[in-house]
Amino acid sequence: MTDSGATVLPGLAEIADVGRDHVRGGYTRHLLDDAERTLRDWFVERATRLGLDVEVDRNGNTWAWWGAPGPDAFVTGSHLDSVPGGGAFDGPLGVVSALDAVARLQAEGHRPSRPTAIAVFAEEEGSRFGVACLGSRLLSGAISPARALALTDADGTSLEAVLASAGIDPSGVGADPDRLSGIGTFVELHVEQGRGLVDLGAPVALASSILGHGRWRFRFTGQGNHAGATLMADRRDPMVAAAAVIAGIPSLARQHGDARATVGRLRSVPGGTNVIASAVEFWLDARAGDDAVTQTVVAEITATARAAATANGGDVEVTEESWSARVDFPDGPRTAIDRVLVGAGGRPVPVLPTGAGHDAGVLSAHVPSAMLFVRNPTGVSHAPEEWSDVDDCAAGVDALTRVMRELT
Ligand code: GLV
Ligand code: MN
Ligand code: MN
Repeated sequence: MTDSGATVLPGLAEIADVGRDHVRGGYTRHLLDDAERTLRDWFVERATRLGLDVEVDRNGNTWAWWGAPGPDAFVTGSHLDSVPGGGAFDGPLGVVSALDAVARLQAEGHRPSRPTAIAVFAEEEGSRFGVACLGSRLLSGAISPARALALTDADGTSLEAVLASAGIDPSGVGADPDRLSGIGTFVELHVEQGRGLVDLGAPVALASSILGHGRWRFRFTGQGNHAGATLMADRRDPMVAAAAVIAGIPSLARQHGDARATVGRLRSVPGGTNVIASAVEFWLDARAGDDAVTQTVVAEITATARAAATANGGDVEVTEESWSARVDFPDGPRTAIDRVLVGAGGRPVPVLPTGAGHDAGVLSAHVPSAMLFVRNPTGVSHAPEEWSDVDDCAAGVDALTRVMRELT
């Protein structure tokens, strides 16, 4: 097993060398960096070769239309950006499978009965600008253009500047109700990000729900000072406060049922070995099946942060960076897909919840949406070990092809 996905689907093999992360392993492909732009070009080339008409919408999402755009469209797709050091499948599997499904349907002479498109959503992971599913949030009006354009990346470059440098007019960013209302059905195929299908011994599942989830930035401040000259009793060290809070998070979260709370990113200012930090920031990712539980977990962590900051002679500021309420996918598209797939294989399609966020979750508030999950034998995701075997990828393409054949 490699981390490239190269042996799995030809489309994944074509992009296997784009954006490799030579420090972490896996891939780092962030919104409109060199790797993600290369993937955008690759997608345009692949879609154009299939005779699809490609356009980039006002929010940087890419749409490849099979036939003319129009109302009640069937749309499938996913994203091409990644987390830092992510796997080969999270996002690209849905895009590659969509291209393969269109190619197969074209080869058998299928003519879609309704407008049909593949969509590639921008900044799904929120790894560059901090807000997950930014492209679908903008499209659906879930984030205001002003707030989005002012977001900055780790280098302090604004989304506004990055879009402008890519030829996307920042003044056009924002809700796109005409485009949104034209989508009749959205289906996102995605690698499973847990072991549900491994345990069930099945290659493909339908999604039932997505945990509510959000991101909060905790900024602790204190007194930057000399590591050797400052007595322990005289310190106001924000690193100590942040560390105390982080150490308490697992036991705090475990008291709240299915809640999950993670700190995967931390920044010390100025970040010198012999310097007591003047500020420390960490980002909390919190999720639970019940949105009130997520909010309680965050409130309790915030309270511990305030106490730890005070105990260390400093302060803390907590900012919500993004929030996605729990999603329950509607019965309609799931039942329609289940009927197609059961009819084909005779086996009921498992239905699984997920703890991972998706553009399908954002769109689900506006458009009948569904998700297909493809088995991941490692159960690992957002890491190079994420995987899907060739037969399961083929089963995913097969399922999506059947769904498109029936629903278009
Ligand atoms: C995206 O994959 C997320 O769940 O954060
Ligand atoms: Mn992801
Ligand atoms: Mn994803």
